[in-house]
Amino acid sequence: MNDVVLTGDRPTGPLHLGHYFGSLANRVELQGRYPMYVLVADYQVITDRDTPGEIRRNTTELVLDYLAVGIDPARAVIFQHSAIPELNQLLLPFLSLVSVAELQRNPTVKDEIAHSSQRAVSGLMFTYPVHQAADILFCKGTLVPVGKDQLPHVEVTRLVARRFNERYGPVFPLPQALMGEQPLLKGLDGGKMSKSRGNAIALSATEDETAALIRKARTDSDRHITFDEERRPEVANLLTLAGLCLGRSPRELAEEIGDRGAAELKRVTTEAVNEFLRPIRKRRAELDEGDVRRILAEGNERARERAVRTLEEVRQAMGF
Ligand code: TRP
Repeated sequence: MNDVVLTGDRPTGPLHLGHYFGSLANRVELQGRYPMYVLVADYQVITDRDTPGEIRRNTTELVLDYLAVGIDPARAVIFQHSAIPELNQLLLPFLSLVSVAELQRNPTVKDEIAHSSQRAVSGLMFTYPVHQAADILFCKGTLVPVGKDQLPHVEVTRLVARRFNERYGPVFPLPQALMGEQPLLKGLDGGKMSKSRGNAIALSATEDETAALIRKARTDSDRHITFDEERRPEVANLLTLAGLCLGRSPRELAEEIGDRGAAELKRVTTEAVNEFLRPIRKRRAELDEGDVRRILAEGNERARERAVRTLEEVRQAMGF
């Protein structure tokens, strides 16, 4: 079978180093080997907030992040939900294939509801995993590189594909989640790396912003630097970050730094991160909003052609 890769992100803010080492690096590697679609999941932004906010700006920044890290529009189709009516129309038949009880059981949805600041839980909150099935199935995606929290959604997608095929005939492949071996990169305060917690280094951060964030990073009172994830998580996290940027082992870095303490650890980390981000910043500086518009227009056109064909197949199979 010919594999097709589909991945995506909600355009809610800048991507950071956690995204890079968790998934972007993997995408850059996959794009030469398989046809690849990269989705700017703009309709999914409104699942857990009342308005899309600065959707246009966030979309531009997201695509700039993609291009800066080396996702190549000549090899990957970069497109938006909101530009592909035929993708969205798949939601109707797909919703008919799952029960309300199944929607309510989704652990990621439950977790998001628990953390949502919305006063009322919207219907979209329960149904967006089925919309995500449309994201994956419109292009007959077979490989879905995602983090652990997205596994339930890939399960929903498999369920929808299987039931559709059983009921109407074989149309969809059953996609598979691709979990990279993601080194767990925490934020600079030891919590989950996330833009909203102010503990993340954005790919678009300047050298000075990067230095300031690392200067503020939490460490501990033991002057001798060692790599001990259990007992010294903050120090271990800086070592991990520096190690990822340098392509070296955190343990080895710890031995080199030794008695020179947290100040030296931060100096090494800052230099490593800034060196690592240099080519990414350079590529980003060469691009502007016009490039993004042109790339999205092309990607949307290609994705739409694909969606038109799939929707036609679906309607035929269903007898419309
Ligand atoms: N839900 C994903 C996230 O929050 C984004 C997303 C939307 C996605 N559609 C997708 C991921 C399809 C993989 C496949 O990160």
